[in-house]
Amino acid sequence: MSFTPAEPQYLSAKRLYNPRSHSYNDSWHPSFAGTFVSHLSIQPGQHVLDLACGTGLVSFLAANIVGPSGSVVGVDVSEGMLAQAIARKEREKAKFPQLQFHNHDVLDLDSLESLEKESFDFITLASAFVLFPDPKAALKHWLRYLKPGGIIALDVTHPQNLAFGNVIERVANRMRVSIPYYRQWVKSEDSLKEILEGGGLAVQKIIRIDNQAGYGKRLFDVSEADDVFEKNINGEATKDLGASATVKDKAKEIFRDEWSKAAVDGKVGEVDTVFLGIAQKEPDTSAPSVAFTGGCRCGGVRYLSTIPPEETVYCHCSACRKLSGSAFLPWIECQTSSIEFIVRSTLQTLRLSEVADRMFCNVCGTPISMTYKAKPHYTSLTMGSIDDGSVRCIIPPVKLHIFLKEKAPWMVLPDDGASRYDEFSSN
Ligand SMILES: C[S@@+](CC[C@H](N)C(=O)[O-])C[C@H]1O[C@@H](n2cnc3c(N)ncnc32)[C@H](O)[C@@H]1O
Ligand SMILES: [Zn+2]
Ligand SMILES: [Zn+2]
Repeated sequence: MSFTPAEPQYLSAKRLYNPRSHSYNDSWHPSFAGTFVSHLSIQPGQHVLDLACGTGLVSFLAANIVGPSGSVVGVDVSEGMLAQAIARKEREKAKFPQLQFHNHDVLDLDSLESLEKESFDFITLASAFVLFPDPKAALKHWLRYLKPGGIIALDVTHPQNLAFGNVIERVANRMRVSIPYYRQWVKSEDSLKEILEGGGLAVQKIIRIDNQAGYGKRLFDVSEADDVFEKNINGEATKDLGASATVKDKAKEIFRDEWSKAAVDGKVGEVDTVFLGIAQKEPDTSAPSVAFTGGCRCGGVRYLSTIPPEETVYCHCSACRKLSGSAFLPWIECQTSSIEFIVRSTLQTLRLSEVADRMFCNVCGTPISMTYKAKPHYTSLTMGSIDDGSVRCIIPPVKLHIFLKEKAPWMVLPDDGASRYDEFSSN
C-alpha cells in the first residue's frame, strides 16, 4: 500500500535526478538503454516518444534508427538530466535534426502543445515506471499519444531488486512518510502484464533482463539490518527518514521488522533483474486497409495505397526514358484519393511540361509519381518504387505501351499482347 505523496511527484524527480545528472551516464544505464532498444522493432521513418528520457540514452539510439525521415521527442522534468541530453545533441548537431527534447512533466503532456495525440509509433519509458505513484493512471495518460497499433515499452524492477529500496519503501508506507519509489505493486512479471492488459493493450512480450547493474544475485544476512539501514538511509530518496533522531530510530526499528519479514531462511535476497514489457495499442480496424506500400531508395519518401493499382502502362516518351535512365518507365495507375504520402520530407515536384506534374525524391533521385492536370483523379506511381514485399498487391499485366513515337530505336518491343500507342492511349 502507498499513499498520496506530500511532495508532487515531478518535484521529487527533480530533487532525485538533478544532482545525479552529471554522473548518470557513468553507470549501467547506457548499457541498459542499448538492451531496451534492441528488443524493439523501431523502423526508419517512425515517430518515437521517449518519456522520462533523462540524459537521452534511449532517445539517441531511437533517433539513429528512425533516421532523418522519422522523429524522436524526449521529455523529462529534470533540467539537469535534460541539459546532458541537449549538450550531446549540440555536440552532434548535424547528426540529429530529427530529435527534440522538452523539459516537462510526463504526467501533464496535454500542456505540451507541440505534442499531438495518437501520433507516435512507439512510446518508450526506460528505468522510470516505478517512479510514478499511480501507474495505471500514468499509462492511461500516455496511451493517448500512441497511434492505434502503436507500441509502448516500459520496464519495472523485480520485487527483490535493490533489497534496501524495497524494504525501506514498506517502512515509509508504515510511517506514512513518502519516498519517491512505488514498487510494491510489482509482485512478479505478471504484475506488469496485468497492468498493461488493464490499459487495453495486447501484451507482445514480457522480457526478463538480468544482471544489468552487475551484481547478479546477492544474499544479506538477516543480522545485517542495521548496517544496511545506516549505509543507505542518507541517500537523496530516503533522507527524510534519517533527518531527526526520533524519526530515524523509529524507521530503524520498523526496518528491522520488515527486513526480517523479507528474509527466507535467515537471508534477504537481492536480484539484479528488471522486466521489460512490450505491448500494442489496438489497431484501428475502421481505417482502410493498406493494399500496397512504396517509397524512394533513401526512405525520405514513403507512400501507401488503400486500393490495388488499376492499370499498368509502359511509357516510352523521352522524358520517362531520361528520368529512369532506361528504355521505358513502367507506371501503375491508381486513384489519387487512395494514395497517402506518409513520409514526404524529400518529395519534390518536377514540372517538365504544362500537362503533368512529376514527383521525385530530391535526395536519392528516385522518380515517384506523375499526375496529368487533365486527369487529377488518377496518379501514376513508378512501378519500381513499390515495396517488394508489399502485401495484397497484384500488379496487373502490362496493358499499354504509350509514346512509341519516342521509343528508343534499339528497344525491341516484347510480344506481350499489350495495346500500342504512338502517343496517349485513346481512353
Ligand atoms: C532512472 S532515470 C531514466 C532516464 C532514461 N529513461 C534512461 O533510460 O536512462 C529516470 C528519469 O525519470 C525522470 N522523471 C521522473 N518523473 C518524471 C516526470 N513526472 N516527468 C518527466 N520526467 C520524469 C527523471 O527526471 C529521470 O531523468
Ligand atoms: Zn529518397
Ligand atoms: Zn513518359
